[in-house]
Amino acid sequence: MADIHLNSISKRFGDVEVIPDLSLTMPAGKFTVLLGPSGCGKSTLLRIIAGLEMPSSGEVRVGDRLVNDVPPSERGCAMVFQNYALYPHKTVRQNLSFPLRMAKVPAAEQTQRVDEIATVLELTPLLDRFPRQLSGGQRQRVAMGRAMIRRPEVFLYDEPLSNLDLELRVRLRLEIARTQRALKSTAVYVTHDQTEAMTLADQIVVLRKGRIEQVGAPLDLYRRPANLFVAGFIGTPKINLFTVDRCEPVSEGTRLTIGPLSLVVPRRFEVPVATVGFRPEQVRLGAAEASQVVFELADCETQAVEHLGDRAFCYLRSSLGELVVLAPDAQSRLSGALTLAVDADSLHFFGADETALR
Ligand SMILES: Nc1ncnc2c1ncn2[C@@H]1O[C@H](COP(=O)(O)OP(=O)(O)OP(=O)(O)O)[C@@H](O)[C@H]1O
Ligand SMILES: [Mg+2]
Repeated sequence: MADIHLNSISKRFGDVEVIPDLSLTMPAGKFTVLLGPSGCGKSTLLRIIAGLEMPSSGEVRVGDRLVNDVPPSERGCAMVFQNYALYPHKTVRQNLSFPLRMAKVPAAEQTQRVDEIATVLELTPLLDRFPRQLSGGQRQRVAMGRAMIRRPEVFLYDEPLSNLDLELRVRLRLEIARTQRALKSTAVYVTHDQTEAMTLADQIVVLRKGRIEQVGAPLDLYRRPANLFVAGFIGTPKINLFTVDRCEPVSEGTRLTIGPLSLVVPRRFEVPVATVGFRPEQVRLGAAEASQVVFELADCETQAVEHLGDRAFCYLRSSLGELVVLAPDAQSRLSGALTLAVDADSLHFFGADETALR
Protein backbone atom coordinates (compact mmCIF):
# COMPACT_ATOMS: atom_id res chain seq x y z
CA MET A 1 0.00 0.00 0.00
CA ALA A 2 1.25 3.45 -0.84
CA ASP A 3 0.89 7.09 0.06
CA ILE A 4 0.40 9.42 -2.86
CA HIS A 5 2.40 12.62 -2.74
CA LEU A 6 1.91 15.68 -4.88
CA ASN A 7 4.88 18.02 -4.51
CA SER A 8 4.51 21.58 -5.83
CA ILE A 9 2.28 20.53 -8.68
CA SER A 10 1.28 23.19 -11.17
CA LYS A 11 -0.82 22.84 -14.29
CA ARG A 12 -1.51 25.22 -17.13
CA PHE A 13 -3.52 24.71 -20.26
CA GLY A 14 -1.97 27.16 -22.72
CA ASP A 15 -2.06 30.52 -20.97
CA VAL A 16 -4.54 29.45 -18.34
CA GLU A 17 -3.12 28.44 -14.99
CA VAL A 18 -5.52 25.91 -13.50
CA ILE A 19 -3.36 24.78 -10.57
CA PRO A 20 -0.78 27.31 -9.36
CA ASP A 21 1.25 25.35 -6.80
CA LEU A 22 -0.21 22.47 -4.89
CA SER A 23 1.32 20.02 -2.42
CA LEU A 24 -0.69 17.26 -0.80
CA THR A 25 -0.29 13.81 0.72
CA MET A 26 -3.00 11.21 0.38
CA PRO A 27 -2.24 8.62 3.06
CA ALA A 28 -1.98 4.92 2.30
CA GLY A 29 -5.12 2.94 2.95
CA LYS A 30 -7.18 6.05 3.57
CA PHE A 31 -10.03 7.66 1.70
CA THR A 32 -9.22 11.16 0.49
CA VAL A 33 -11.98 13.26 -1.07
CA LEU A 34 -11.18 16.21 -3.32
CA LEU A 35 -14.12 18.58 -2.84
CA GLY A 36 -14.80 21.86 -4.57
CA PRO A 37 -17.02 23.72 -6.99
CA SER A 38 -17.12 23.04 -10.72
CA GLY A 39 -13.95 24.03 -12.53
CA CYS A 40 -11.70 24.16 -9.45
CA GLY A 41 -9.34 21.52 -10.87
CA LYS A 42 -10.49 18.29 -9.17
CA SER A 43 -10.54 16.13 -12.29
CA THR A 44 -7.30 17.65 -13.50
CA LEU A 45 -5.58 16.64 -10.25
CA LEU A 46 -6.98 13.13 -10.43
CA ARG A 47 -5.85 12.79 -14.05
CA ILE A 48 -2.39 13.99 -13.05
CA ILE A 49 -2.23 11.25 -10.40
CA ALA A 50 -3.43 8.66 -12.93
CA GLY A 51 -0.90 9.83 -15.52
CA LEU A 52 -3.55 10.84 -18.04
CA GLU A 53 -2.37 14.44 -17.77
CA MET A 54 1.18 15.73 -17.25
CA PRO A 55 1.76 18.41 -14.61
CA SER A 56 3.43 21.58 -15.93
CA SER A 57 5.82 21.29 -13.00
CA GLY A 58 6.17 19.37 -9.76
CA GLU A 59 6.39 15.74 -8.69
CA VAL A 60 3.88 12.92 -8.40
CA ARG A 61 5.01 10.11 -6.12
CA VAL A 62 3.29 6.83 -5.35
CA GLY A 63 5.04 5.59 -2.24
CA ASP A 64 8.74 6.33 -2.77
CA ARG A 65 8.46 6.08 -6.50
CA LEU A 66 8.57 9.19 -8.67
CA VAL A 67 5.97 8.43 -11.34
CA ASN A 68 6.01 11.58 -13.51
CA ASP A 69 7.44 9.57 -16.41
CA VAL A 70 5.64 6.31 -15.67
CA PRO A 71 2.81 5.54 -18.12
CA PRO A 72 -0.72 5.27 -16.66
CA SER A 73 -0.86 1.49 -17.06
CA GLU A 74 2.21 1.05 -14.85
CA ARG A 75 1.23 3.36 -12.01
CA GLY A 76 -0.82 0.83 -10.08
CA CYS A 77 -3.88 3.10 -10.22
CA ALA A 78 -7.37 2.12 -11.27
CA MET A 79 -9.77 4.85 -12.24
CA VAL A 80 -13.57 4.77 -12.06
CA PHE A 81 -15.27 7.47 -14.11
CA GLN A 82 -18.67 9.05 -14.02
CA ASN A 83 -19.54 7.31 -17.28
CA TYR A 84 -18.58 3.70 -16.87
CA ALA A 85 -18.77 1.53 -19.94
CA LEU A 86 -19.12 -2.24 -19.77
CA TYR A 87 -18.72 -4.55 -22.74
CA PRO A 88 -22.36 -5.18 -23.69
CA HIS A 89 -21.77 -8.58 -25.31
CA LYS A 90 -19.76 -9.99 -22.42
CA THR A 91 -21.26 -11.41 -19.25
CA VAL A 92 -20.48 -9.94 -15.86
CA ARG A 93 -17.88 -12.66 -15.36
CA GLN A 94 -16.26 -11.89 -18.71
CA ASN A 95 -16.33 -8.17 -18.02
CA LEU A 96 -14.64 -8.71 -14.69
CA SER A 97 -11.98 -11.09 -15.98
CA PHE A 98 -11.15 -9.03 -19.06
CA PRO A 99 -8.26 -7.04 -17.50
CA LEU A 100 -6.78 -10.32 -16.23
CA ARG A 101 -7.04 -11.93 -19.68
CA MET A 102 -5.23 -8.95 -21.15
CA ALA A 103 -2.53 -9.38 -18.52
CA LYS A 104 -2.28 -13.11 -19.41
CA VAL A 105 -3.13 -14.27 -15.91
CA PRO A 106 -3.62 -18.09 -15.88
CA ALA A 107 -7.25 -19.18 -16.26
CA ALA A 108 -7.55 -20.81 -12.84
CA GLU A 109 -6.33 -17.66 -11.12
CA GLN A 110 -8.72 -15.55 -13.22
CA THR A 111 -11.66 -17.62 -11.97
CA GLN A 112 -10.50 -17.37 -8.39
CA ARG A 113 -10.04 -13.60 -8.51
CA VAL A 114 -13.39 -13.00 -10.23
CA ASP A 115 -15.07 -15.05 -7.52
CA GLU A 116 -13.31 -13.04 -4.81
CA ILE A 117 -14.26 -9.67 -6.24
CA ALA A 118 -17.81 -10.85 -6.91
CA THR A 119 -18.12 -11.79 -3.24
CA VAL A 120 -16.86 -8.40 -2.05
CA LEU A 121 -19.24 -6.54 -4.36
CA GLU A 122 -22.15 -8.97 -3.94
CA LEU A 123 -22.18 -9.79 -7.63
CA THR A 124 -21.99 -13.59 -7.31
CA PRO A 125 -25.61 -14.27 -8.36
CA LEU A 126 -25.19 -11.96 -11.36
CA LEU A 127 -22.02 -13.39 -12.90
CA ASP A 128 -23.74 -14.96 -15.91
CA ARG A 129 -25.90 -11.98 -16.77
CA PHE A 130 -25.23 -9.42 -19.48
CA PRO A 131 -24.97 -5.69 -18.64
CA ARG A 132 -28.43 -4.98 -20.13
CA GLN A 133 -29.89 -7.36 -17.52
CA LEU A 134 -28.50 -5.29 -14.63
CA SER A 135 -29.71 -2.21 -12.78
CA GLY A 136 -27.65 0.97 -12.91
CA GLY A 137 -26.20 0.32 -9.49
CA GLN A 138 -25.26 -3.25 -10.33
CA ARG A 139 -23.56 -2.05 -13.52
CA GLN A 140 -21.62 0.48 -11.52
CA ARG A 141 -20.48 -2.27 -9.17
CA VAL A 142 -19.30 -4.36 -12.12
CA ALA A 143 -17.36 -1.35 -13.40
CA MET A 144 -15.80 -0.95 -9.96
CA GLY A 145 -15.02 -4.66 -9.85
CA ARG A 146 -13.33 -4.49 -13.22
CA ALA A 147 -11.14 -1.68 -11.89
CA MET A 148 -10.44 -3.52 -8.64
CA ILE A 149 -9.60 -6.88 -10.09
CA ARG A 150 -6.12 -5.81 -11.06
CA ARG A 151 -5.58 -5.18 -7.33
CA PRO A 152 -4.58 -1.60 -7.79
CA GLU A 153 -2.67 0.06 -4.99
CA VAL A 154 -4.59 3.21 -5.68
CA PHE A 155 -8.22 3.79 -6.55
CA LEU A 156 -9.22 6.99 -8.30
CA TYR A 157 -12.88 7.93 -8.57
CA ASP A 158 -14.15 10.88 -10.60
CA GLU A 159 -17.74 11.59 -9.52
CA PRO A 160 -18.72 7.95 -10.08
CA LEU A 161 -22.22 8.37 -8.66
CA SER A 162 -23.41 11.60 -10.18
CA ASN A 163 -25.46 9.89 -12.91
CA LEU A 164 -27.50 7.85 -10.47
CA ASP A 165 -30.72 8.58 -8.64
CA LEU A 166 -30.57 9.64 -5.01
CA GLU A 167 -31.42 6.31 -3.44
CA LEU A 168 -28.90 4.42 -5.49
CA ARG A 169 -26.30 7.09 -4.82
CA VAL A 170 -26.74 6.66 -1.09
CA ARG A 171 -26.54 2.87 -1.34
CA LEU A 172 -23.50 2.83 -3.56
CA ARG A 173 -21.80 5.41 -1.40
CA LEU A 174 -22.06 2.97 1.48
CA GLU A 175 -20.82 0.18 -0.77
CA ILE A 176 -17.80 2.17 -1.87
CA ALA A 177 -16.96 2.93 1.75
CA ARG A 178 -17.36 -0.73 2.68
CA THR A 179 -15.27 -1.95 -0.26
CA GLN A 180 -12.54 0.51 0.57
CA ARG A 181 -12.37 -0.75 4.13
CA ALA A 182 -12.33 -4.38 2.95
CA LEU A 183 -9.57 -3.86 0.37
CA LYS A 184 -7.60 -1.28 2.37
CA SER A 185 -6.60 0.43 -0.85
CA THR A 186 -5.67 4.09 -1.07
CA ALA A 187 -8.63 5.98 -2.52
CA VAL A 188 -8.92 9.43 -4.01
CA TYR A 189 -12.47 10.49 -4.76
CA VAL A 190 -13.57 13.61 -6.60
CA THR A 191 -16.92 15.23 -5.90
CA HIS A 192 -18.59 18.60 -5.60
CA ASP A 193 -21.17 17.13 -3.23
CA GLN A 194 -20.32 17.91 0.37
CA THR A 195 -22.66 15.23 1.75
CA GLU A 196 -20.83 12.61 -0.29
CA ALA A 197 -17.52 13.97 0.98
CA MET A 198 -18.68 13.99 4.59
CA THR A 199 -19.87 10.36 4.45
CA LEU A 200 -16.92 8.84 2.59
CA ALA A 201 -13.81 10.68 3.59
CA ASP A 202 -11.10 10.03 6.12
CA GLN A 203 -9.61 13.24 4.79
CA ILE A 204 -11.32 16.01 2.82
CA VAL A 205 -9.33 18.43 0.69
CA VAL A 206 -11.35 21.54 -0.10
CA LEU A 207 -10.22 23.10 -3.37
CA ARG A 208 -10.98 26.45 -4.89
CA LYS A 209 -9.47 27.69 -8.14
CA GLY A 210 -6.70 25.09 -8.01
CA ARG A 211 -5.67 25.96 -4.47
CA ILE A 212 -6.16 24.05 -1.24
CA GLU A 213 -8.41 25.92 1.16
CA GLN A 214 -8.27 23.33 3.95
CA VAL A 215 -7.39 19.69 4.58
CA GLY A 216 -8.93 17.76 7.45
CA ALA A 217 -11.26 15.10 8.74
CA PRO A 218 -14.94 15.77 7.92
CA LEU A 219 -15.88 16.87 11.43
CA ASP A 220 -12.82 19.12 11.74
CA LEU A 221 -13.91 21.00 8.66
CA TYR A 222 -17.46 21.22 9.95
CA ARG A 223 -16.45 22.36 13.42
CA ARG A 224 -13.43 24.47 12.58
CA PRO A 225 -13.59 25.75 9.03
CA ALA A 226 -10.38 27.65 8.23
CA ASN A 227 -12.12 30.39 6.28
CA LEU A 228 -15.42 31.69 4.93
CA PHE A 229 -15.23 29.55 1.80
CA VAL A 230 -14.94 26.26 3.71
CA ALA A 231 -17.55 27.38 6.24
CA GLY A 232 -19.97 28.01 3.39
CA PHE A 233 -19.12 24.84 1.49
CA ILE A 234 -19.38 22.31 4.34
CA GLY A 235 -22.69 21.80 6.13
CA THR A 236 -26.25 21.68 4.92
CA PRO A 237 -28.27 23.85 5.16
CA LYS A 238 -25.50 26.40 4.82
CA ILE A 239 -24.02 28.26 7.77
CA ASN A 240 -25.62 31.67 8.52
CA LEU A 241 -23.12 34.49 8.07
CA PHE A 242 -23.50 38.14 9.06
CA THR A 243 -21.32 41.12 8.24
CA VAL A 244 -20.07 42.91 11.34
CA ASP A 245 -20.30 46.71 11.08
CA ARG A 246 -18.43 47.52 14.27
CA CYS A 247 -16.22 45.48 16.56
CA GLU A 248 -14.99 46.91 19.87
CA PRO A 249 -13.47 45.43 23.01
CA VAL A 250 -15.57 45.77 26.17
CA SER A 251 -14.96 44.51 29.69
CA GLU A 252 -16.93 41.24 29.16
CA GLY A 253 -15.41 40.46 25.76
CA THR A 254 -16.16 42.00 22.40
CA ARG A 255 -19.13 44.03 21.27
CA LEU A 256 -20.27 43.33 17.72
CA THR A 257 -22.66 45.56 15.84
CA ILE A 258 -24.53 43.85 13.02
CA GLY A 259 -27.01 46.20 11.37
CA PRO A 260 -29.65 46.98 14.01
CA LEU A 261 -28.26 44.37 16.42
CA SER A 262 -25.64 44.80 19.09
CA LEU A 263 -24.33 41.83 21.02
CA VAL A 264 -21.46 40.92 23.28
CA VAL A 265 -19.45 37.75 22.79
CA PRO A 266 -17.26 36.50 25.66
CA ARG A 267 -13.99 36.63 23.73
CA ARG A 268 -11.25 39.11 22.84
CA PHE A 269 -9.87 39.22 19.32
CA GLU A 270 -6.45 40.33 18.11
CA VAL A 271 -7.88 41.59 14.82
CA PRO A 272 -11.37 42.96 14.20
CA VAL A 273 -14.16 40.50 13.47
CA ALA A 274 -15.56 41.14 9.98
CA THR A 275 -18.03 38.27 9.80
CA VAL A 276 -19.78 36.17 12.41
CA GLY A 277 -21.68 32.96 11.73
CA PHE A 278 -23.57 30.06 13.23
CA ARG A 279 -24.95 26.86 11.79
CA PRO A 280 -28.73 26.48 11.46
CA GLU A 281 -28.73 23.35 13.63
CA GLN A 282 -26.98 25.13 16.49
CA VAL A 283 -29.68 27.66 17.21
CA ARG A 284 -32.14 27.45 20.10
CA LEU A 285 -35.27 29.50 19.92
CA GLY A 286 -36.61 31.34 22.92
CA ALA A 287 -35.08 31.63 26.36
CA ALA A 288 -31.28 31.62 26.41
CA GLU A 289 -28.98 30.33 29.09
CA ALA A 290 -26.65 32.85 30.67
CA SER A 291 -23.64 31.45 28.80
CA GLN A 292 -25.30 31.76 25.40
CA VAL A 293 -25.09 34.60 22.94
CA VAL A 294 -28.46 36.04 21.98
CA PHE A 295 -29.51 37.29 18.58
CA GLU A 296 -32.69 39.36 18.84
CA LEU A 297 -34.43 39.46 15.47
CA ALA A 298 -37.40 41.57 14.47
CA ASP A 299 -39.87 41.29 11.59
CA CYS A 300 -39.19 37.63 10.88
CA GLU A 301 -41.08 36.01 8.10
CA THR A 302 -40.85 32.36 7.03
CA GLN A 303 -40.00 32.10 3.35
CA ALA A 304 -39.89 28.32 3.16
CA VAL A 305 -39.78 25.25 5.37
CA GLU A 306 -37.56 22.31 4.50
CA HIS A 307 -39.00 19.13 5.99
CA LEU A 308 -36.52 16.36 6.63
CA GLY A 309 -38.78 13.95 8.48
CA ASP A 310 -37.41 14.08 12.01
CA ARG A 311 -36.68 17.77 11.73
CA ALA A 312 -37.37 20.86 9.69
CA PHE A 313 -35.48 24.01 8.78
CA CYS A 314 -37.11 27.43 8.51
CA TYR A 315 -35.76 29.82 5.90
CA LEU A 316 -36.39 33.28 7.32
CA ARG A 317 -36.26 36.87 6.21
CA SER A 318 -35.54 39.13 9.20
CA SER A 319 -34.14 42.42 10.44
CA LEU A 320 -30.69 40.78 10.07
CA GLY A 321 -31.32 39.62 6.51
CA GLU A 322 -31.91 36.04 5.39
CA LEU A 323 -31.09 33.11 7.63
CA VAL A 324 -31.94 29.46 8.26
CA VAL A 325 -32.76 27.94 11.65
CA LEU A 326 -33.72 24.53 12.90
CA ALA A 327 -37.46 24.76 13.53
CA PRO A 328 -38.72 23.86 17.00
CA ASP A 329 -41.25 21.54 15.39
CA ALA A 330 -42.13 20.56 11.88
CA GLN A 331 -45.39 22.51 11.86
CA SER A 332 -44.11 25.88 12.87
CA ARG A 333 -43.91 28.84 10.55
CA LEU A 334 -41.87 31.32 12.55
CA SER A 335 -42.74 35.01 12.39
CA GLY A 336 -42.48 38.33 14.20
CA ALA A 337 -39.83 38.92 16.87
CA LEU A 338 -37.54 35.97 17.59
CA THR A 339 -34.84 35.33 20.14
CA LEU A 340 -32.08 33.02 18.91
CA ALA A 341 -29.68 31.59 21.47
CA VAL A 342 -26.36 30.17 20.32
CA ASP A 343 -23.59 28.68 22.45
CA ALA A 344 -20.56 30.94 22.37
CA ASP A 345 -18.50 27.90 21.27
CA SER A 346 -20.73 27.42 18.25
CA LEU A 347 -20.08 30.88 16.86
CA HIS A 348 -17.60 31.24 14.01
CA PHE A 349 -15.62 34.45 13.60
CA PHE A 350 -13.77 35.62 10.52
CA GLY A 351 -11.45 38.55 9.86
CA ALA A 352 -11.51 40.94 6.90
CA ASP A 353 -9.25 38.54 4.95
CA GLU A 354 -11.94 35.83 5.36
CA THR A 355 -9.78 33.53 7.52
CA ALA A 356 -11.23 32.13 10.72
CA LEU A 357 -10.23 33.83 13.97
CA ARG A 358 -9.24 31.13 16.43
N1 LIG B 1 -7.80 20.16 -21.78
C1 LIG B 1 -8.09 21.36 -21.28
N2 LIG B 1 -7.81 22.50 -21.94
C2 LIG B 1 -8.07 23.71 -21.43
N3 LIG B 1 -8.63 23.92 -20.22
C3 LIG B 1 -8.96 22.83 -19.51
C4 LIG B 1 -8.70 21.50 -19.98
N4 LIG B 1 -9.13 20.63 -19.04
C5 LIG B 1 -9.62 21.39 -18.03
N5 LIG B 1 -9.51 22.69 -18.30
C6 LIG B 1 -9.91 23.82 -17.41
O1 LIG B 1 -9.31 23.60 -16.17
C7 LIG B 1 -10.17 23.97 -15.11
C8 LIG B 1 -10.33 22.79 -14.14
O2 LIG B 1 -10.99 21.74 -14.83
P1 LIG B 1 -11.40 20.39 -14.08
O3 LIG B 1 -12.01 19.51 -15.09
O4 LIG B 1 -10.21 19.89 -13.36
O5 LIG B 1 -12.47 20.92 -13.05
P2 LIG B 1 -13.38 20.11 -12.01
O6 LIG B 1 -13.05 20.66 -10.66
O7 LIG B 1 -13.21 18.66 -12.23
O8 LIG B 1 -14.84 20.59 -12.40
P3 LIG B 1 -16.24 19.74 -12.50
O9 LIG B 1 -16.76 19.65 -11.09
O10 LIG B 1 -17.10 20.64 -13.34
O11 LIG B 1 -15.94 18.43 -13.15
C9 LIG B 1 -11.47 24.39 -15.75
O12 LIG B 1 -11.49 25.79 -15.79
C10 LIG B 1 -11.39 23.81 -17.13
O13 LIG B 1 -12.08 24.62 -18.07
MG1 LIG C 1 -14.48 17.13 -12.97
